[in-house]
Amino acid sequence: MDWGMQNRLGQLMPNGRCFFMPIDHGYFQGPTRCLEKPGETIKPLLPYADAIFCTRGVLRASIDPLNTKPIVLRVSGCSSVVGKDLANEELTTSIAEIIRLNAAAAGLSVFIGTDYEKESLKNLATLVNQCEDYGIPVMAVTAVGRELEKREARYLALACRIAAELGARVVKTYWCEDFDKVACGCPVPVIMAGGPKCETELEVLEFVHDGLQKGAVGINLGRNVWQSPHPVAIAKALRAIVHDHASVKQAHEIFKATKKTKPTTKA
Ligand code: 5RP
Repeated sequence: MDWGMQNRLGQLMPNGRCFFMPIDHGYFQGPTRCLEKPGETIKPLLPYADAIFCTRGVLRASIDPLNTKPIVLRVSGCSSVVGKDLANEELTTSIAEIIRLNAAAAGLSVFIGTDYEKESLKNLATLVNQCEDYGIPVMAVTAVGRELEKREARYLALACRIAAELGARVVKTYWCEDFDKVACGCPVPVIMAGGPKCETELEVLEFVHDGLQKGAVGINLGRNVWQSPHPVAIAKALRAIVHDHASVKQAHEIFKATKKTKPTTKA
């Protein structure tokens, strides 16, 4: 692996583990709850994250270039929750812009099993061709759109493997039962997204711990962090699981202790 590629992946995954903070949701769903002002949402959470996942628009408008973390740039879009089909995405950002913004990686969604499977996989192949020339890793997101029932091992294993075969250096997918089947079939690191907010913080800690035990190398968790009434406390607890190998019990203790001491934001 070339120096630039190794260096970027090393920044994103210190010690091979990672906690990315996604604030890209607005690119298809507008001002998501608790993400109306992404710069304010992310500020107290930055110390716990290894990278931020966002679009160029939010990056320029809301992120201080002198006080930030490595950026995974979201470079697919052009569909919305009020449009016809969420899967009908295009590449939105040129390779020149990805380089100009000093992105540590570029991320895009693939929609396997939809009417736009071929187009989204072609987007991935094109982006990999462009980014590999400059040592920039591509993170593929196995998106399910509104079909949340697709979050099961057989489908996610298929989607992750296809994304890796097309050249993604990292694949982001959902946690599911039997997550080892997903991780084992994927030759590149797999990280877990959170999905809609869980009922309790304990549930979040449990699924993250389970996925890491079964082969994931990290997380890219948004709503379950910044929509929590205690975002800093959950971020700190998750970081302990990802980077310090804390048990669920230890992480929950960290969560409970931190929520008593840290200021909370309104959910
Ligand atoms: C949106 C994304 C998000 O980055 C991803 O879903 C993670 O966020 P959350 O934990 O809120 O699901 O790719 O398309």
